[in-house]
Amino acid sequence: MIVEDLPEQVRQHVREARRKGLRVGCVPTMGALHQGHSSLIERAREECDFVVTTIFVNPTQFLPGEDYTRYPRTLESDLRCCADTGADLVFTPQTDHMYPDNAQTTVQPGKLAEVLEGVIRPGHFAGVTTIVAKLFAVTEPDAAYFGQKDFQQQLIIRQMVRDLKLPVEIVTCPIVRELDGLAMSSRNRYLSAGERSAAVELSRALAEASRLAAESTLDSLQISERMWSLLQSSGQLEVQYAVLADPETLEHPVQRTSGGRAVALIAARLGTTRLIDNELLRFS
Ligand code: PAF
Repeated sequence: MIVEDLPEQVRQHVREARRKGLRVGCVPTMGALHQGHSSLIERAREECDFVVTTIFVNPTQFLPGEDYTRYPRTLESDLRCCADTGADLVFTPQTDHMYPDNAQTTVQPGKLAEVLEGVIRPGHFAGVTTIVAKLFAVTEPDAAYFGQKDFQQQLIIRQMVRDLKLPVEIVTCPIVRELDGLAMSSRNRYLSAGERSAAVELSRALAEASRLAAESTLDSLQISERMWSLLQSSGQLEVQYAVLADPETLEHPVQRTSGGRAVALIAARLGTTRLIDNELLRFS
């Protein structure tokens, strides 16, 4: 496995792979890799011949006061994980490689970035689209792999790729969960033992929303209210949103139609940690 921190070197390796006719897959990450990330690398491995993982804690997607400085940086174990799951190349740029002093250009997402996470973390998605565009420019992938866990992020990246006519296929991979249902996240390691027990309420509320969509006649607002009250009743979670939205546009509330689809999305704070989770649902 090649480990490289210079964009020009990465581009040369990728172009060499392309000259051999290999399909290139890219898995962008911020490191602190867990089984969710491994599942993305494994999927890329299945579908591509040359797999690039990027590890970069992107400063521009953190708001002032967020966890940029304390975000876990675990390069050694991340590299082991990449090697074990079959990455061919790991790109580990320094901040000034991606953001030289004279950089002036950013990628601004549109409407999709103005709701949900975009309200609570204004500017976050511009940081994401800017870095992902740069990572695509360096790694020139045929396909790129993202987790459904960051549901809004993957929609915004799909929209960016369409709008900018970037020649990359976006693949969204299922959420990987702990045995009790908690969605895997690099930020789960911030949780105290007590908070870890309460964190399971997010996936329980989503499961209840899914059940109510399939088995009741409640409309989407009523189902959202049910999620809120389940989350509140834990006594520890500070709910930021719990909604049923259109899975393409994120408009909410959604109309309940027989066989119609929705995505249930939750964000909540647990002590100093912010958790998000989601589940795709179908109305009966
Ligand atoms: O999902 C993430 O880990 C990050 O937002 C990403 C896509 C790697 C951009 O920094």
